[in-house]
Amino acid sequence: MSEKNTILKGGAMPRHIGIIMDGNGRWAKKRGLPRVAGHKEGAENFKRIAEHLVDLNIEVSTFYAFSTENWKRPAAEVNNIMSLLVDYLVEWQGMRKDKNMRFRFIGDRSAFSDRIQKLMADVEEKSSVYSNQLNLALNYGARDELARAFNLLYEEHKSPITPDDISRALYTKDQPDVDLIIRTGGEKRLSNFLLFQSAYAELFFTDKYWPDIKNEDIDEAILFFQNKDRRFGGLTQGR
Ligand code: FPP
Repeated sequence: MSEKNTILKGGAMPRHIGIIMDGNGRWAKKRGLPRVAGHKEGAENFKRIAEHLVDLNIEVSTFYAFSTENWKRPAAEVNNIMSLLVDYLVEWQGMRKDKNMRFRFIGDRSAFSDRIQKLMADVEEKSSVYSNQLNLALNYGARDELARAFNLLYEEHKSPITPDDISRALYTKDQPDVDLIIRTGGEKRLSNFLLFQSAYAELFFTDKYWPDIKNEDIDEAILFFQNKDRRFGGLTQGR
């Protein structure tokens, strides 16, 4: 085992990792392929990396697959992503125990077809006996999520509203805050992803396109996290 790996396994692990999977289209373009080929490879890579995160025993991983803004893409591309989604949901319905993946689909699912909504509910139900949480953000936007949370609290006649109340009204309600966000594809922004939950997250950016990301890149991001001095607004001892 390399020295790098020793640090990874011996150090504090992030409890919740968020991943912005960017660069599928550019990955395909670089190879002279249609954008949809990039999404296909991106989805396969999602599967590989999700398994790696379970192997590392990360408690919660959230992957940004489709934002509230992604509907603006050409219909053919959106349809292609939807049909990929159906294929994977069908596969996950039959997921075996050894994968230990518990799915939650976060975002406004009312925009999806009845078939997709039924598949989502079924995958969540069937995987609920497993323990490593995988959130897949679909038609997700943090502003929408926060507006939904405030509406829920308003309906409860909740007053005054505390940050903890907001936390428990989010899609991620019973999960720890995000410790580490990884964004691939070269852009350095959060793009409406987990804005409330990532208040103290460490941010790791890489220029690599999502389909090129390997287990080692995820390990590098975790090492980056382990080498951070997390003060949560306080001071490090001795400073
Ligand atoms: C970002 O790349 C990717 C998306 C907006 C879609 C993500 C979709 C997948 C990973 C596949 C679907 C996943 C599942 C599990 C069904 P981009 O298209 O914005 O890339 P670009 O910035 O290079 O154009």
